[in-house]
Amino acid sequence: MTNSSKLSALVTGGASGIGLATAQLLHQRGARVAIVDVQAGKGAEALTALNDQDQRAIFIEANLAQPEDAERAVAQTVQAFGSLDAVVNSAGIQRYGNAEQTSLELWREVMDVNLTAAFLVSRAAIPHLRQSGGGAIVNVGSVQSHASQRGAVAYVTSKHAMLGLTRAMAVDYAAEHIRVNCVCPGTVDTPMFRWSASLDANPDSVIKACASMHPMGRMAQPMEVAEVIAFLLTDAASFVTGTAIDVDGGLLALIGGAPKTD
Ligand SMILES: NC(=O)c1ccc[n+]([C@@H]2O[C@H](COP(=O)([O-])OP(=O)(O)OC[C@H]3O[C@@H](n4cnc5c(N)ncnc54)[C@H](O)[C@@H]3O)[C@@H](O)[C@H]2O)c1
Repeated sequence: MTNSSKLSALVTGGASGIGLATAQLLHQRGARVAIVDVQAGKGAEALTALNDQDQRAIFIEANLAQPEDAERAVAQTVQAFGSLDAVVNSAGIQRYGNAEQTSLELWREVMDVNLTAAFLVSRAAIPHLRQSGGGAIVNVGSVQSHASQRGAVAYVTSKHAMLGLTRAMAVDYAAEHIRVNCVCPGTVDTPMFRWSASLDANPDSVIKACASMHPMGRMAQPMEVAEVIAFLLTDAASFVTGTAIDVDGGLLALIGGAPKTD
């Protein structure tokens, strides 16, 4: 593992939101970056926006809910770059419903994308990280890896499990210099968040409420999460593994329901 400029990285969900910001930041710092996403149009746009003069970026269309696509994405990245030492599992979907409202189909859809895809991509990548002499994986969890919002049982469970996946892989591969960490964002202003807000009759009030529930009084921008992911991928974080870093503007530090005094 090394600094950003020498990284060979695969970013799932790299066509939008947090994954896109991460791909942009890593590329800007000189890394080779494979953007992996199910949205071909947005992937092509992301690639164009990188203005990739020296051909350090590729887009791989993949539906990571399909195990063969997860494996192919890793194989194509290694084929293109010759090596792989950084993986960011950011692909995700948000779905709503309490236990009774959640069909088995919806439960499986969320688990397949939010959890199993991270497992499959990591599993396929680990032999290549080992071959690089070590590497780093960052899983994108959520404040919902630690606590629960109402009415999102599948999403919350998938994000809690992302922490378990992080810790299990971290302890299994630490001796081989493969570090595995999780970032847990609060609300981030991305297309996923805007879609969630649009489900409400009054999206603006949801946006305002989400911003004000964070002690910092606002949501995060995707790049604020990408910066932490980029840190975890490099040697600057050489003794950091098996942990979760909250990027939540103080949200989880607040006692739930605490009244505002000013
Ligand atoms: N936005 C937030 O407030 C927030 C907060 C905490 C955690 N997160 C997590 O951050 C991650 C990124 O979310 P975002 O807000 O950037 O969302 P986003 O919708 O902007 O980006 C997610 C990307 O994942 C891709 N994706 C979805 N299903 C896929 C599949 N089957 N195969 C391949 N790619 C697929 C989408 O096409 C999209 O480009 C997610 O795991 C999400 O749960 C988001």
